[in-house]
Amino acid sequence: MADLVLSRGFINGEWVDAIDGKQVDVVNPSTGELITSVPDMGKEESEAAVVAAHAAFQEWRTTTAKQRAVLLKKWFDLIVENADALAKLLTTEQGKPYKEAYGEVLYGASFIEWFAEEAKRIYGDVIPAANPNNRYMTIKQPIGVVAAITPWNFPVAMITRKVGPALAAGCTVVIKPGEDTPLCALAMVKLAEQAGIPKGVVNVVTTSRPAVVGDVLCRHPLVRKVSFTGSTPVGKLILRQAADTVKKVSLELGGNAPFIVFDDADIDKAVLGAVISKYRNAGQTCVCTNRLYIHDAIYDEFMEKYTQAVKALSVGDGLVEGTEIGPLINQKAFEKVAALVQTAIEQGATLTLGGAGHDYGAQFYQPTILADVTEEMDIAHQELFGPISTIFRFNDEQDVVRRANDTPYGLAAYFYTRDHARVWRMSEALEYGILGINEGIISTEVAPFGGVKESGSGREGSKYGIDDYLEIKYLCHGI
Ligand code: SIN
Repeated sequence: MADLVLSRGFINGEWVDAIDGKQVDVVNPSTGELITSVPDMGKEESEAAVVAAHAAFQEWRTTTAKQRAVLLKKWFDLIVENADALAKLLTTEQGKPYKEAYGEVLYGASFIEWFAEEAKRIYGDVIPAANPNNRYMTIKQPIGVVAAITPWNFPVAMITRKVGPALAAGCTVVIKPGEDTPLCALAMVKLAEQAGIPKGVVNVVTTSRPAVVGDVLCRHPLVRKVSFTGSTPVGKLILRQAADTVKKVSLELGGNAPFIVFDDADIDKAVLGAVISKYRNAGQTCVCTNRLYIHDAIYDEFMEKYTQAVKALSVGDGLVEGTEIGPLINQKAFEKVAALVQTAIEQGATLTLGGAGHDYGAQFYQPTILADVTEEMDIAHQELFGPISTIFRFNDEQDVVRRANDTPYGLAAYFYTRDHARVWRMSEALEYGILGINEGIISTEVAPFGGVKESGSGREGSKYGIDDYLEIKYLCHGI
């Protein structure tokens, strides 16, 4: 792992410090120990990275799809070869259990492999002409410099989901990783360098001042596209900043995922799906279940089994074998989760499990279950980002659809039923970009990931994921 712990940013193929030499500490959220420090970069370094990416774009855009695919495939191979070291680094800086971290590294690598293959399928069209003296065609071309602004909760996969399609399309990239987790970004880029990706094609700006760096990346005229994963308020700010130069913007924002269990569901399967969808990464994913709606007729049985399963989750340091729930990312996150639970109890929710910090360490929160939650409570409208289940009851399909949709968010939703007609009714009625139907894990590189409403725009992964990095040019040829 030591070779992959890097302490400098990466601009124009050089490993560099901040111009003023300032650094920011990267801390293990499980132990509070310092891992290393990275440059605390700002406006000037961000501008330099954009200029470098723009210069590199002039050559990279002229490479063939096959050349780019070969380099991306090499990068993929190196990530897989180093999966163990990357996973340990990921657990150390982000906290998620090693098993999940290892899964994320392979999931992250899969986007590089997928888009290496997709690079060769960027087809244009020949269009039947409306005029006998014309011939019409379209070609697709890389959009230009991309700013990839990525979050701390998936410090490998959220980078590859953006950089994979960008590079495959022929774009160059400036990455601004999450402030809490810059090390995975640097390690990934080190492997890209080893794979032979030319200088300037991928750059990383580390910082403790996201607003300063973000402002440059979202306003600079040489940046043509911004791809952001993170909170809805920051997504709205990015849209506003990017408006003046009319950049293409993809946003993967917050969620408030309902998980609906009907009375005809396979209850054991629903319990398993709910636990994994709620508690993976200690509840810190955008697609984590946020609200569980349980049908009255099976409520007691579901709750008994679910409570047993949640109680059995093992809390601890992610590097300790068997750990299933790691720490929250930082103290602020811990305080937010604690306050949400406290307010919900004050507003009438019943605490049936957990409800306090865990003895393991300062940023660990006990797996928690709150029953008797209603839409009148604040917690029903917040993205929880913590190991808390909020349980609502229902007894009518139309009513639960209305309640599930009654949110500005629309990323992921889940439901469990054995009724095939209901599967279609629900699939058409739920206003979400991704549905888990009798399934709690929905992420894969081959399917489109993204939300509707205030959960964002654009789709990542799948055959659609490369479109946002391409412009369509129409050629009208007079003959
Ligand atoms: C996210 O939380 O934004 C990503 C989750 C995933 O890809 O599964």
